[in-house]
Amino acid sequence: ATTKLWGGRFTAEPSEYVQKFGASIEFDHLLAEEDIQGSLAHVQMLADQNIIAKGEADQIQDGLKELQKKLEAGALHFSIENEDIHLNLEKALTDLIGPVAGKMHTARSRNDQVALDMHLYLRNRLAELLPLIKDLQKTLVEKADANVTTIMPGYTHLQHAQPISYGHYLLAYYNMLHRDYERFEFNQKHADISPIGAAALAGTTFPIDRQKTADLLGFKDIYHNSLDAVSDRDFILEFLSNSAILMMHLSRFCEELVLWSSQEFNYIELSDTYSTGSSIMPQKKNPDMAELIRGKSGRVFGDLMGLLTVMKGLPLAYNKDLQEDKEGMFDTVNTIFMSLKVMNGMVETLTVKKDNMKHATVHDFSNATELADYLAKKGIPFRQAHEIVGETVLKCIQQHKFLKDITLAEFQQISPLIDEDVYTALDPENAVKLRDSLGGTGFDEIHKEIKRAKAALND
Ligand code: ARG
Repeated sequence: ATTKLWGGRFTAEPSEYVQKFGASIEFDHLLAEEDIQGSLAHVQMLADQNIIAKGEADQIQDGLKELQKKLEAGALHFSIENEDIHLNLEKALTDLIGPVAGKMHTARSRNDQVALDMHLYLRNRLAELLPLIKDLQKTLVEKADANVTTIMPGYTHLQHAQPISYGHYLLAYYNMLHRDYERFEFNQKHADISPIGAAALAGTTFPIDRQKTADLLGFKDIYHNSLDAVSDRDFILEFLSNSAILMMHLSRFCEELVLWSSQEFNYIELSDTYSTGSSIMPQKKNPDMAELIRGKSGRVFGDLMGLLTVMKGLPLAYNKDLQEDKEGMFDTVNTIFMSLKVMNGMVETLTVKKDNMKHATVHDFSNATELADYLAKKGIPFRQAHEIVGETVLKCIQQHKFLKDITLAEFQQISPLIDEDVYTALDPENAVKLRDSLGGTGFDEIHKEIKRAKAALND
């Protein structure tokens, strides 16, 4: 036998290199709290089922609580020789209370143990994540509320398309985050299933009570197939995939913040607290935080691809490949938590250059649809109106002027149906205000949406 907790059938220790390669303690120490929590419940169930003696369970549970205190005090030290968090904690418990610690692992395997830890861990993180998404949504709605009448160019193909309200723009991101929220909420359902009691892969002959352990840990559901219980990582894949979509949303937003804070757009200014300077160019104020969130979306996509690739060829049930499920998940948790917080602060503190936004809509042709609609409302078929306005725009470009600069006499040559009221129709603010079809950028519609969003956020 060797010194390993599983050393019975071995005559030689693994080489130092193999030990280091196989160990996960350098990252799975993040599961320590969940591992202790899981063991406390498992041992309770073992005692309740008379699988171990009540006195033994007390000893083990006191020991585990002692380890929890040490962990919080930063006084628990882990080593690579003990491979992973599960064996490290069992070793620490053995050092503390002696061989009775070995009863803790009755009717359990590290396979269901690690699966349990991952479920508990993700369940905890999801509960912390949802309020962070809501915080950002709240900021977006507040800013939208303050900017219903802030007019800016709306884009398609990054070309001025039609004027919109900046508030309406912000609410688009609110809605994306609403779907993100719902996806993570659903993710909770699959994180909230207990695998413990599946043992190594096939269940156990001990008279365990899986429902009892699940209840002690507050799980909503339990796995009903032991092979699935120890090898399922869908709940992590869902988390990574939801996170990838979330980061894609934040990244698009950031791309716009970067563009808009450039001299070319000059629509916004990020606050000093969320910007950085250049070591050589004294005038620079760089949108580093927005760029970083945009960049960090890449690592989250990578974490998703990484785990999908790990999973795709795995035969049932547990394989050591599954140890690779952890770092990507930890990395994604860290990345999305930080990104959401930074994004929130950035949006909260940025300055909107309303005049520049408005100016851009007065000095462009984004009111061309307005003129076409104006003619269509007077009875000209829209397709024909489109043609007339297209030709008018071309003439204006040649004469270096905009639609609003055309005189009424000139307008009436284009069509006798055009009246003085055309100038009201061409006014960008008016164009935005009146687009009050459901979900449009019209002011009344935005107010309605803000009300709806606020009600949803207070749910
Ligand atoms: N550290 C391992 C992991 O993260 C724990 C499970 C080990 N089980 C095993 N049969 N080797 O996957």
